[in-house]
Amino acid sequence: MNYSIETAPLEELHCDCMIVGVYQNQQLSPSALALNNSTSGLINNIVSRGDLSGKNGETVLINAVPGGRIECILLVGLGENKPLSGKDYKKALLAAINSLKKPQIKSIICCLAECEVKDRDWQWKSRHIIEVFNDAVYQFTELKSDKETESKIEKISITAPETEQTLASLGLLQGKAIAEGMLLAKHLGDLPGNLCTPSFLAEQALALGQQYPSVAVKILEEADMTALGMGALLSVSRGSRQPAKFIILDYQCGEKNEQPIVLIGKGLTFDAGGISLKQAPGMDEMKYDMCGGAAVLGTLLAAAQMQLKLNIIGLVPSSENMPDGDANKPGDILTSMSGKTIEILNTDAEGRLLLCDSLTYAERYNPDVVIDLATLTGACLVALGRVPSGLLGNDDALCDDLTSAGETANDSVWRLPLWEEYQEQLKSNFADLANVGGKDAGTITAACFLAKFAEKFRWAHLDIAGTAWRTGQTKGATGRPVPLLSQYLINRAHTDKS
Ligand code: BES
Ligand code: MN
Ligand code: ZN
Repeated sequence: MNYSIETAPLEELHCDCMIVGVYQNQQLSPSALALNNSTSGLINNIVSRGDLSGKNGETVLINAVPGGRIECILLVGLGENKPLSGKDYKKALLAAINSLKKPQIKSIICCLAECEVKDRDWQWKSRHIIEVFNDAVYQFTELKSDKETESKIEKISITAPETEQTLASLGLLQGKAIAEGMLLAKHLGDLPGNLCTPSFLAEQALALGQQYPSVAVKILEEADMTALGMGALLSVSRGSRQPAKFIILDYQCGEKNEQPIVLIGKGLTFDAGGISLKQAPGMDEMKYDMCGGAAVLGTLLAAAQMQLKLNIIGLVPSSENMPDGDANKPGDILTSMSGKTIEILNTDAEGRLLLCDSLTYAERYNPDVVIDLATLTGACLVALGRVPSGLLGNDDALCDDLTSAGETANDSVWRLPLWEEYQEQLKSNFADLANVGGKDAGTITAACFLAKFAEKFRWAHLDIAGTAWRTGQTKGATGRPVPLLSQYLINRAHTDKS
């Protein structure tokens, strides 16, 4: 896809479709007004006939446009004529792009960056247009014979006045980087478990390092993990024929001695539950159990493309969780890299076993902060549904930073308490701690487990079980939380340096 910022007057532009906004009560946006004047009142005719009330998300496609420069015009309702919320802006953008998936439309000019959005500038708006449009045209067709449904859109231009060109262009660069990071995360997520194995993920990470020389990639093999004492992680991979991989991405574009931001992503390429086997319905969706890892790769791609002046480490512990003669059994006790012993009460609580050793491994970087992201608990879906990711952590400032980054990025999180009282639930009669804490507060007790391994640094945990993919008719990976993490990194790059 080709993206650009267009500063020439509307009257000079050519395209297959021009997108302009219309507010309620027949009020036209500046671009709609300009287009109306150059088409002898075409838009006013439609609006006054009542074909578009201007409600947010409503669309009308005008197919016959005089003048020959523009094949069609898409009118998009923006709601009341006042600054939109970020969410309403996204809603309008989504409605627009979703009504343009017609094969005749190859080039689009979007005039929606001019709408006022509360507290947001041209940089944010142009970035958002790219993120939303790119997200909406994505389809996983790689394994389908019929690729006809693929979007044919090749070119998207965003109009901006010359005075806003710098900001809009910066937004374009960020939008492209984040969109590409999301694309990688979605693609890896949607790939099935028979193709996207731990070895495949490791190869993808190496390919990312080839593409972006600022990202150094190293893969630890099971022998390396044994030498490190990663007994928790290895107890999971033992039950699978696929060897585990521990992927390390090293991006050092900050000051030499600056402590890094460490991102850890759960990379279970398939989670059958192990001996505590999951039920059959919906089990296919456990191919998405590596979405945390995929989002770490996507976020590093975005950071490298934006050339953020930060030091970032990405860690992706990757394995399958399968039932097998050599798999973990309920009651087994293993020793983690930290030395803490863990009693397995449910082999399906495997994510935390990979993450605890990864958290211990992260200590060697003397991190400024550690953020892990994991499709960790079904309980998170019960608590928060599919709107925000769950957020838990041991540092209020870090949690606040992530919350506000999530709001800016339209990729929200909601914090849950990580109180001492919950630790009770993880007591084991036979080991230092149990790997599950019963049916109450499953998301919190999972985070409590991780917290025991994150005592040496500022740490936050994102439970993305409800947000990393959609279920049902539109089943597919979402690329979340790449936008949130990218925003957090952008914010960090700016506040640390200015
Ligand atoms: N990957 C799952 C979590 C999950 C389940 C995410 C469903 C999205 C949808 C995780 O490994 C898991 O199985 N967690 C268990 C924990 C339980 C055994 C304490 C769960 O949520 O049931
Ligand atoms: Mn599981
Ligand atoms: Zn899992």
